[in-house]
Amino acid sequence: MKYNFDEIIERGNTLSKKWNPDFYKGMFNNKTDLLPLWVADMDFKVAKPILDSLQAVINHGILGYTSPDEKCFEAIIHWNKKRKNVYVKKEWIVFTSGVVPAINFMVQTFTKEGDCILIQTPVYNPFRLATENNKRKVVENPLINSNGYYEIDFQDFEQKIIDNNVKMFILCNPHNPVGRVWNKEELEKMAEICLKHNVLIIADEIHSDLIYKEHKFHSFLSLNEKYQKNVLVCTALSKTFNIAGVQTSIIIIPDEKLRESYRTTLANVRLENPNSFGIETIKSGYFHGEEWLEELIQYLDKNRKFIAQYLKENIPEAKYRLPEGTYLAWIDLKDVLPANETMEDFFENKAKVAIDYGTWFGKEGDGFIRLNFACPTSILKKALDRIKNAL
Ligand SMILES: Cc1ncc(COP(=O)(O)O)c(C=O)c1O
Repeated sequence: MKYNFDEIIERGNTLSKKWNPDFYKGMFNNKTDLLPLWVADMDFKVAKPILDSLQAVINHGILGYTSPDEKCFEAIIHWNKKRKNVYVKKEWIVFTSGVVPAINFMVQTFTKEGDCILIQTPVYNPFRLATENNKRKVVENPLINSNGYYEIDFQDFEQKIIDNNVKMFILCNPHNPVGRVWNKEELEKMAEICLKHNVLIIADEIHSDLIYKEHKFHSFLSLNEKYQKNVLVCTALSKTFNIAGVQTSIIIIPDEKLRESYRTTLANVRLENPNSFGIETIKSGYFHGEEWLEELIQYLDKNRKFIAQYLKENIPEAKYRLPEGTYLAWIDLKDVLPANETMEDFFENKAKVAIDYGTWFGKEGDGFIRLNFACPTSILKKALDRIKNAL
């Protein structure tokens, strides 16, 4: 391997929300001595081509207002074609400072107060927050868990849409936290139901570059054209290349009317252009980051399997299925943790590991944890040892 993903980079004294105790303690009952494997960023150094492109901006010495250049659009078109077999047109591309802000703007643009929005629980919590904070109502279509393999309850999906006059569906593909990469048939079924009942789809594809080799990612943009007219696709380089702090997301909207409405919302708050670091990382990452990404996926593959082996040998009652995509392990600890102890007590006072509690993703997450394994294997092992020893 050209890149060293085993390298340990000190982050506790930085502005890292994940590692600096001053920041993470707010999520973990003021505890400041935890080993952090929670929030979704990685502990690996950013790929050299990306760092070089940022260095060039710094060396130039000016950080004024910016506009994306032709190369930036070309980079997005190139990456989508090469990695996802998707043909994006330049005019479909809109930028926003983050996928979560984008989802909030979409909720505000395309629904009214009191409207119902459907999500598939357990799911990334900002979907719920974007709905409730904007005074819309959450309608849940819980995923079906068959021995750790999650599937969609299509009957419930359609019935809930009809019963609640649902206006919008926020799809997570690949799914955080359960790790499914939805197949074409599943996507088409959802797309068809939404089209039939006039439900607008927001497809959050932020984890779509992190797919293990026996699985295939299908973008919503690869489906039949009639479905593309009913979707806003959100993506970014933040998970792919570990640059969440750059706060730049790429929103792809094939339908002109939807796109213009969304653009108007952004224009009203003067959020039309990505920042200079965002533009440079799109170009360097999408044109020169592929080799790093391929090596990263191999390393993550090793870690996801390391967890399976470790649990089998040391905590066999834990239920874990290899995720198909993402660097997030969704682990069922219902048969593991002492009955008289809360999750918080166990992880914060005994194991001293910061993970995402399953209930942060919805009530179906009770008894589960989401563990971020995008770290050197030595850190992953240390965390699992702590959990084993605490048990
Ligand atoms: C599904 C999903 N969407 C969005 C985000 C965050 O996106 P952003 O940082 O661009 O707002 C995350 C981060 O974990 C995520 O898992």
